Amino acid sequence: MAEEIKLIKVTIDNITVDVPMGTSILQAARMIGGDVAPPAMCFYSKLKGSGGKCRTCLVEVSKGSNADPRPMPKLVASCRTNVMEGMEVKNITSERVTDARNGVVEFLLLNHPLDCPVCDQAGECHLQDLSYEHGKEGTRYEFKRRTFEKHDLGPYIQLHMTRCILCYRCVFVADQVTNKRVHGVLSRGDHSEIATHIEKALDNDFIGNVIDVCPVGALTDKTFRFKNRVWFTKPVDAHRDCPTCKGKVTLWQRGDEVLRVTGRKDQWGEVEDWICNTCRFEKKHINDWVIEGPTKISRHSVISQGHYLGMKKPTETFRAVHGGRDPKLLMDIHSISEVNRPGIDLSAIPGPATSDVFNAEKKK
Ligand code: SF4
Ligand code: FES
Repeated sequence: MAEEIKLIKVTIDNITVDVPMGTSILQAARMIGGDVAPPAMCFYSKLKGSGGKCRTCLVEVSKGSNADPRPMPKLVASCRTNVMEGMEVKNITSERVTDARNGVVEFLLLNHPLDCPVCDQAGECHLQDLSYEHGKEGTRYEFKRRTFEKHDLGPYIQLHMTRCILCYRCVFVADQVTNKRVHGVLSRGDHSEIATHIEKALDNDFIGNVIDVCPVGALTDKTFRFKNRVWFTKPVDAHRDCPTCKGKVTLWQRGDEVLRVTGRKDQWGEVEDWICNTCRFEKKHINDWVIEGPTKISRHSVISQGHYLGMKKPTETFRAVHGGRDPKLLMDIHSISEVNRPGIDLSAIPGPATSDVFNAEKKK
């Protein structure tokens, strides 16, 4: 008979959930969902041993357990601390946590280059999101930023060591998903860097997954490099009959052109299935794939910008939102402006709507 799983009660940000014994605070918070789940830059539920490196998931334990209700004196890493019966945790309801997280972000950005405008990860970078939520304007750092010797990791993977936050996820992927790891973290302290000991290409069948797990733009896809901004591409779910992996991917398209292939990601930004290098780097033709439909992207993500799938038009009339009053003057923008043409359906344009699109439409 299967052993019965013992459920215990934990309260996070005043919401109580029942979770199996042995669950981490972070995983319990993810069961509640939304903002209650702390950000995680190094923890990855599919990688054994991950977590405990970045400290972005810090939370305050205001009650240890029913048996020992004393609060924990210091903030704890929620990805590495398991829940106890009756534990009470504060995440977004704690000022101490917000303050500490601001500090962590400041540290993560100490040596990080401000190259979002040219970084391929921009728009899907967890550090970029975290900086918007917790970052400070400007920097207090007065020293020269750290730089590294360039390492070539082969024809598919581009390494930008200055962007790395040493989360170790790529090392765990190489260890646990491929059959031979040839890269790791070399040196110590300030000199720690991701590299192969002797210049070597990362060429295992599944090594491309390091790109998907990297939370920043330190490891990017060379076949997509500088080709486009992610928010100008349209992600669609697709599959193919692949002998090596499950072949379930997301295609990032511009028109009919497949610019990039990645694993499918869940709401926490973690891949659902590891995909092989052939699917990721070699199958860039639309005919290689069976398209399933548009990928579900959070409407808060910049990637969903310009994709109006499932959009609901507001039903309120002007009077309803204006305290029952009619407007004194109502102008139709289209009657006085040539730019905003009502005949153009923005979501049907493959890519950004630029003046060229409008001018071409005008000539018709
Ligand atoms: S290269 Fe990316 S995945 Fe690897 S340790 Fe650095 S930040 Fe993490
Ligand atoms: S996610 Fe918990 S320490 Fe990084």
